[in-house]
Amino acid sequence: MTDVDTAQLAGRKVIVTGGAGFIGSHLCEALVDIGAEVICMDDLSAGKRDNVAHLENRSNRPNFRFAELDVCDSGPAMDAVFEGVDTVFHNAASKKNICLINPHRDLDVNAGGALNLLQMSMKHGVRKFVQASTGSVYGEPQIFPTTETHPFEPVSYYGVSKLAGERYVDVFHKLYGLDTTILRYFHVYGPRQESNEFGGVVSIFLRRITQGQNPIVFGHGEQVRSFTWVKDLVEANLRAALSPRATGQAFNAASGIRVTINELAKGMLEILDPQQKLAVEHGEPLIGDIMEFDVSNTKIREELGIEFEGDFWGTLKTALADIDSFLGKTDKAEAAA
Ligand SMILES: NC(=O)c1ccc[n+]([C@@H]2O[C@H](COP(=O)([O-])OP(=O)(O)OC[C@H]3O[C@@H](n4cnc5c(N)ncnc54)[C@H](O)[C@@H]3O)[C@@H](O)[C@H]2O)c1
Repeated sequence: MTDVDTAQLAGRKVIVTGGAGFIGSHLCEALVDIGAEVICMDDLSAGKRDNVAHLENRSNRPNFRFAELDVCDSGPAMDAVFEGVDTVFHNAASKKNICLINPHRDLDVNAGGALNLLQMSMKHGVRKFVQASTGSVYGEPQIFPTTETHPFEPVSYYGVSKLAGERYVDVFHKLYGLDTTILRYFHVYGPRQESNEFGGVVSIFLRRITQGQNPIVFGHGEQVRSFTWVKDLVEANLRAALSPRATGQAFNAASGIRVTINELAKGMLEILDPQQKLAVEHGEPLIGDIMEFDVSNTKIREELGIEFEGDFWGTLKTALADIDSFLGKTDKAEAAA
């Protein structure tokens, strides 16, 4: 493992697509702190300007700007944003539940958007392209622990379209020598994750419990998840952007821990409902829901030196000490409504 000094990103112009979303906003925050010139590109279809308001309003650090753009846009506004860019962190996506509603839009954004940004990157001499992908490209895993060489058998529109995005990234590396890295995320949790039906399970349970409603588990609840702390993914992105060992590679970016949805629901009730007024409820199973995850993160730990947070309950308890900031401003208002 080569050590990576992420401070090297200071002064470099970077684009974070999906920067007003959950993971993207944390990445923007870290890059602003490092001193990079950060352009947060988002069409606000799912993200919120509120998620980055604290970065926009920092008069002492004017190294952040917001560009309201669709990643599929190839017009002059996109060219202007790409001028002088060193690194693209491509995090924008049409997410899993949205894909079920509108698979054509999902294909446009997750595959076409990646292709457009890759073309823009070549046109403007971008040095590095980091692609946020997903464990959904493997489908229901057949080989455990699941390494990066697992066959691609997606079982959702989302998995198919994200895989197409990945394949474009690979083609640009192989055909044109673009320096690319693919990070496959799994079950990310942390503050500002959407808590509506398009959000993550931790935030959804949190919102329901704080509203005095039972958490609803889809199906039997023995689905295993490898919950990964959002700050670890930020570190993975920063290191991927700089390490020569990341060039042309794909990495599982997962904590490797295993928690079932039943355990999550019960554990969150213990933390948030000590009076035991609420109970776990079971609903219909979700179409394409993956049951078993046992993800190998050996490659990213060895090659990029990422140390994943292994204390899921400890980290969650600390983060939940400030429920308002966990749910984010708008979610909080919606929860109260
Ligand atoms: N959260 C997870 O557990 C998880 C797991 C696996 C992979 N991922 C991947 O991580 C990335 C970030 O996910 P997230 O959880 O932060 O989701 P999110 O929905 O919070 O963020 C995605 C952002 O992309 C923006 N966006 C969507 N379509 C766009 C478009 N056409 N142009 C510009 N912006 C657009 C949305 O407005 C939103 O702000 C995505 O690529 C997702 O596929 C997330």
